[in-house]
Amino acid sequence: MVEVKNLKKQYGDNIILKDINLHINRGEVVSLIGPSGSGKSTILRCIVDLESITSGEILIEGNNLTDKNVDKKIKKEILLKTGMVFQTFNLFPHLSVRNNIVKTLKLVKKIDTSEAETIAKKMLDLVGLSDKMNSFPNELSGGQKQRVAIARALALQPDILLFDEPTSALDPELVKEVLDIIRKLKEQKITMLIVSHEMNFVREISDRVVVMEKGKILETGTSQQIFENPSSQRVKEFLNTNS
Ligand SMILES: Nc1ncnc2c1ncn2[C@@H]1O[C@H](COP(=O)(O)OP(=O)(O)OP(=O)(O)O)[C@@H](O)[C@H]1O
Ligand SMILES: [Mg+2]
Repeated sequence: MVEVKNLKKQYGDNIILKDINLHINRGEVVSLIGPSGSGKSTILRCIVDLESITSGEILIEGNNLTDKNVDKKIKKEILLKTGMVFQTFNLFPHLSVRNNIVKTLKLVKKIDTSEAETIAKKMLDLVGLSDKMNSFPNELSGGQKQRVAIARALALQPDILLFDEPTSALDPELVKEVLDIIRKLKEQKITMLIVSHEMNFVREISDRVVVMEKGKILETGTSQQIFENPSSQRVKEFLNTNS
């Protein structure tokens, strides 16, 4: 689904990502963990083209997103295969919950209002928020806002959903409702790349876990390998202090 090859990212002289190789197979849930500043968000942002890369390649379903000669229209189509959910929700404050989804669908997919309304209803139902359709974002709890953001990302039918710490802006009692939605998406075999500090959740949900530090991948393995028998001492230490 997604293949990251020899990815390097530099801000001036500051090397943020050193030589990242990473792949996510269809239907797989992969989590990225590691200390603050290790480059997790930057990887996600490179995959959805919110950051330019210094060198390397990113392929989405075999399409080279980072090819300098790629046609703008084709690049847009490649990016439509990805959907991102941010820590801070990024909802449009002036639009109702329903219109956050409808307007996005109309803008991005150019479909008519009635079709967009049908999809919006279906997605809000999936995240358990049908009753909040006409509310505005400031009338919702953090957990509800994040569920709307997930519904909006899903409405565009991406082939892969990327989550950047989807629960870290939430009060502890609201975390569960968002994690429950992600569990439900896994049951539906949605491909996901998740950055999270919720170690118990990462352990439970991930098919594979990638551990990063200082712009490099320290170790990759199944959830069981990483959490029960990590090979590097540094990963052991990280998990001991964060679990
Ligand atoms: N726009 C930018 N300009 C310069 N440096 C940046 C920029 N964005 C990020 N960085 C640096 O890149 C490094 C990696 O940042 P990134 O946000 O990817 O880390 P992270 O692993 O997501 O951390 P956290 O767990 O705190 O979210 C950090 O050292 C950060 O200071
Ligand atoms: Mg981050």
